[in-house]
Amino acid sequence: MSCAAMPMPASPRINRERLIERLATFNRIGALPGGGNCRLALSDEDRGGRDLLVRWMGELGLAVTVDAIGNIIGVRPGREEIAPVMFGSHVDTVGTGGRYDGLYGVLAGLEICEALGDAATTTRRPLALVAFTNEEGSRFAPYAMGSLVYVGGLSLEDAYAVRGIDGKTVGEELRRIGYAGSAKPGWLKPHAYLELHIEQGPILEEEGLVIGAVEGITGLVWTEITITGRASHAGTTPMHLRRDAAYVASEIAVFLRRLARGMSGNQRCTAGRIELYPNLVNVIAERAVLTVDLRNTDAAALQAAEQELAVCLDRLAAQENVAIATRSLASFAPIAFAAEIVSLVDTTARELGLPCRRLPSGAGHDAQMMARLCPSGMIFVPSVGGLSHNVREETKPEHLQAGAEVLLNAVLKLAE
Ligand code: GLV
Ligand code: MN
Ligand code: MN
Repeated sequence: MSCAAMPMPASPRINRERLIERLATFNRIGALPGGGNCRLALSDEDRGGRDLLVRWMGELGLAVTVDAIGNIIGVRPGREEIAPVMFGSHVDTVGTGGRYDGLYGVLAGLEICEALGDAATTTRRPLALVAFTNEEGSRFAPYAMGSLVYVGGLSLEDAYAVRGIDGKTVGEELRRIGYAGSAKPGWLKPHAYLELHIEQGPILEEEGLVIGAVEGITGLVWTEITITGRASHAGTTPMHLRRDAAYVASEIAVFLRRLARGMSGNQRCTAGRIELYPNLVNVIAERAVLTVDLRNTDAAALQAAEQELAVCLDRLAAQENVAIATRSLASFAPIAFAAEIVSLVDTTARELGLPCRRLPSGAGHDAQMMARLCPSGMIFVPSVGGLSHNVREETKPEHLQAGAEVLLNAVLKLAE
């Protein structure tokens, strides 16, 4: 046969429509009436999403393994049986989540596997597509639980024992939804890990850029604070005799805003959950439970913020005659991604003609944990209006495609 008659192998190409169609189909699971999604970790909706993902992985010929913390890994064989290039993210959402946070990285990974299949391409290294368990942490703290267990940062027993906001444990719920697998977390050690994700902030959009090469992840401390005062009559109890847990919770929320304002722009402080008991119009609150989320890219500054909060709690306890107890839900120092992976993302984007910059992430991610195991990094694409953890989360189709192209090309380089 002459060379001219030989079919040239096509180079793999991202099919934008197929990616968007898969996102839409998946997002029917746990769809909220006004838009957005609720697939809280280990809920029935999370199970529905997992089942669909496992089916799609199987249809593409990936060998699927579920480990004991419920991480789902689909492996596409390479030409050699060596350490794979791993990529993916998570498919759970916060209670009022958008359509892209996590899911985009997983389904773009699936699209890459399909594009490689279409082009009859086999990489030298195997490829491993992963969906980590409970990245969001809204139901069970800490966030990024599946990847943390995977890298040995949290024992399986301790993870199973975590009780969620609805009183159920991770172990019970994993077994109930049928995703307590038999593989040992960490069973597959990757050559490198790459995570494609929406930015969830405003920087790329504001600067008219398409790709972010993520340099590292902010440090973060989550604390649950329980304030115990005394329930009493709202009309008859003089102001100076009150032991008002609601008032103290409000003081803490106000303090957090002042703390952030007084530190550099990198300090973030949030009181995301406040619950009052008995939560009635004419009863002074006996108890308040609130969560505090402190983040800073500078470890020393983050520690200083923690200290200031502790001083504030001591002062309020004495001043308002209430008991204040704290429980740590998560504490992670800032991390920097491997320089070679940051460069790889940056260079790949520029080779594709996509305007790119390096930036830190203010959100936590599975890549932050995977960085303990292998060289890791992330690719960001713009979020419309910088909005995320919101049902109106949006990313433009051309940006969804651009991110998938960067992931594809970066994975191909890592895999050869
Ligand atoms: C994870 O979604 C986080 O809270 O950053
Ligand atoms: Mn996410
Ligand atoms: Mn999230």
